[in-house]
Amino acid sequence: MGKARDVAVIIASLRRESFTRKLAMAMMRIAPPSIALDIVEIRDLPMYDQDLETDVPAKEWVSFRERIKRCDAILFATPEYNRSVPGCLKNAVDVGSRPGGHGVFAGKPGAIVSVTPFGLGAFGANHHLRQALVYVDVLTMAQPEAYVSQAADLVDENFGITKESSREFLKKFLEAFAAWIELTRKR
Ligand SMILES: Cc1cc2nc3c(=O)[nH]c(=O)nc-3n(C[C@H](O)[C@H](O)[C@H](O)COP(=O)(O)O)c2cc1C
Repeated sequence: MGKARDVAVIIASLRRESFTRKLAMAMMRIAPPSIALDIVEIRDLPMYDQDLETDVPAKEWVSFRERIKRCDAILFATPEYNRSVPGCLKNAVDVGSRPGGHGVFAGKPGAIVSVTPFGLGAFGANHHLRQALVYVDVLTMAQPEAYVSQAADLVDENFGITKESSREFLKKFLEAFAAWIELTRKR
């Protein structure tokens, strides 16, 4: 087998005890060996401001853009805020999409896992994100879709997924993503 594909994982929660982060960490442990998941932090990205898009943009923007440019694919793990995505994720998408014509997401395969502690939720975040990703030209995997509900007790202290059906589903989701990366990889 060749080198594992480098998958940047963007987690759209800044909360210390984030269920979404715990789930992403758990997914790192069950991913197939053909993909290597690496968390790319978005906490320190300054809010996108076109006035700062100079010859010397913010160093956090530059390193984020360089990291995304280097990766083979992106996994977005997001909670749902007000039936959409948290602002930190939208900001990261905006930062990576500029300057116009030089966005770093273009052509990259992507997948979304959206998370809620409730029984119902995570659809709005998932589909709002898909809408933005179309514009920045991420090749987002259509199926399987991953809406994770009842997330509060899903991951134990060792980042194991406590519910077998969810563990098996997420394993299959990651295997499908690995196959999607091979199918769509452009660069
Ligand atoms: C501003 C805000 C808006 C929220 N809106 C939703 C929502 O639309 N749907 C939902 O399922 N949960 C919503 N929640 C609850 C979150 O799902 C919950 O806080 C969750 O723990 C956030 O994910 P995290 O644990 O990864 O930080 C909202 C929470 C906040 C703070």
